[in-house]
Amino acid sequence: MKTRLAVLGSGSGSNCQSIFNAIDDGRLNADVVIVLSDNPDAFILKRAAQRGVPVGILNCRGFKNKFPEEEQAALARQLRKMQVDLICLAGFMRLVKQPLLDVFPRRILNIHPALLPNFPGVEAWKQALEAGATQTGCTVHYVDAGMDTGEILMQAYVPVLPGDTPESLHARIQVQEHILYPAAIQSALSRL
Ligand code: GRF
Repeated sequence: MKTRLAVLGSGSGSNCQSIFNAIDDGRLNADVVIVLSDNPDAFILKRAAQRGVPVGILNCRGFKNKFPEEEQAALARQLRKMQVDLICLAGFMRLVKQPLLDVFPRRILNIHPALLPNFPGVEAWKQALEAGATQTGCTVHYVDAGMDTGEILMQAYVPVLPGDTPESLHARIQVQEHILYPAAIQSALSRL
């Protein structure tokens, strides 16, 4: 049986698309069984719906950056019931904590647009530019209770070029993300 993935995102979902593409061309031996978002207008939901992948909206209304515990508990129950093996965060802007972490130990991955442990948190590409870094990149890591602190699984380097803007740098990082994330997920599957 193929490994069953759930993808959580808050935005455009280009990384989710790269997972779909990798499944289609045989680089990733898995199925995405559900895509969930805390943002009902997120394009990631449209990408999933276009493919016929079930979608769901996480109810975080009234909580600015938090992922409420009751909602995480409900999600953990739902994903268990759906026999999800691995959760992939792809641009998901809320911190995953208990009880989800307990129910899916070493089974939640995140992609971060910097070479962790450098530049955790939001707009990591901008942080790298502002710090004058000459290289940055992206990281896939297991998720723990901290912000971008879990065990690193894979990284890819991206040079910072003269004249880079936050947008140009993020765009080049994303090119690498779209290669790295499917490869890292495939590697994580072999360790489940
Ligand atoms: C990516 O740069 C990812 O590293 C970060 O959020 C962005 C999501 O982009 N966590 P997308 O929604 O996958 O296009």
